[in-house]
Amino acid sequence: MSEGSTSGGLRHFLSLTDAGGDAIAAILNDAQDRKKARAGWPKGKVDVDRPLDGHVLAMIFEKNSTRTRVSFDLAMRQLGGSAIILDSGSSQIGRGESVGDTARVLSRFADAIMIRTDIHSKAEELAAAASVPVINGLTDLSHPCQLLADMLTLIERKGKLAGSKWAWFGDGNNVCNSLIEAASIMYFDVTVACPEGFEPDIGILKAAAARGKSVPIVRDAAAAAAGADVIVTDTWTSMGHSDSDNRAAAMASFMVDEALMTGAGDQAVFMHCLPAHRGEEVSDAVIDGAQSAAWDEAENRLHAQKSLILWCLGKL
Ligand code: CP
Ligand code: NVA
Repeated sequence: MSEGSTSGGLRHFLSLTDAGGDAIAAILNDAQDRKKARAGWPKGKVDVDRPLDGHVLAMIFEKNSTRTRVSFDLAMRQLGGSAIILDSGSSQIGRGESVGDTARVLSRFADAIMIRTDIHSKAEELAAAASVPVINGLTDLSHPCQLLADMLTLIERKGKLAGSKWAWFGDGNNVCNSLIEAASIMYFDVTVACPEGFEPDIGILKAAAARGKSVPIVRDAAAAAAGADVIVTDTWTSMGHSDSDNRAAAMASFMVDEALMTGAGDQAVFMHCLPAHRGEEVSDAVIDGAQSAAWDEAENRLHAQKSLILWCLGKL
């Protein structure tokens, strides 16, 4: 598998390729072990080894979040540490303090920083100025933490990730971009079914191609679904997007409904990073159905991110 890269000796996680395939495999293995070791425990109980005793994660939210916020906070508690949350409405970030100065200050208070922001380059700027690892908790370009949870979920369901076939439907957005990056370093296949004008990021596609992973972009949803192991979608209108009516009209034929799942077959698992827009990108029957892994995916954000934080801090 591919080797990751570090910046200034720090293990930032702005993309899956920052870590590389070997580290991602180690994170996913550790996540399975840690999840099993605490099965049935109260959710706030600290893991026996308390690997991050006394450690602090600072989290910056410039966009809304439910899962990312709760799963990172709980991850730090379960590892024996704690989290501090800043948002633009109540911190100096919202009044224009620079990303660089914010990074320098938070690096004095915290052992790692997670940022959810709009423009990807802000996360890069934060990492460049920080003296602690920086984690991408979603940008307009990518959402690598989500893919850690999704890969963990497939391993739980199917026993393995390599060689699996994923089909993405609707908007070629940030989650789709991270799915493509994941496929390119973890040896699985992805087809993207989307309308013209809603393709994944061209830079991400080119980088995947340079790693030997070509990603078919198709306009026929039913053809993309046939024989897929994973059917995955996300909102048609991500945070920061406007013109939701036009987007919905363009993507209507890429909705994941019962007919699409039937075409995929009984073996197919349905995934969605959530929040879902029921009746738009996915029907109630699919997300609530027997093939849906959406709730496991949400829980697995916690387990995958615990191991990610350990990797960032050089403890894995
Ligand atoms: N999937 C995800 O990142 O959810 P939140 O926006 O609630 O964090
Ligand atoms: N693509 C969505 C993901 C939310 C978790 C967004 O960026 O809003």
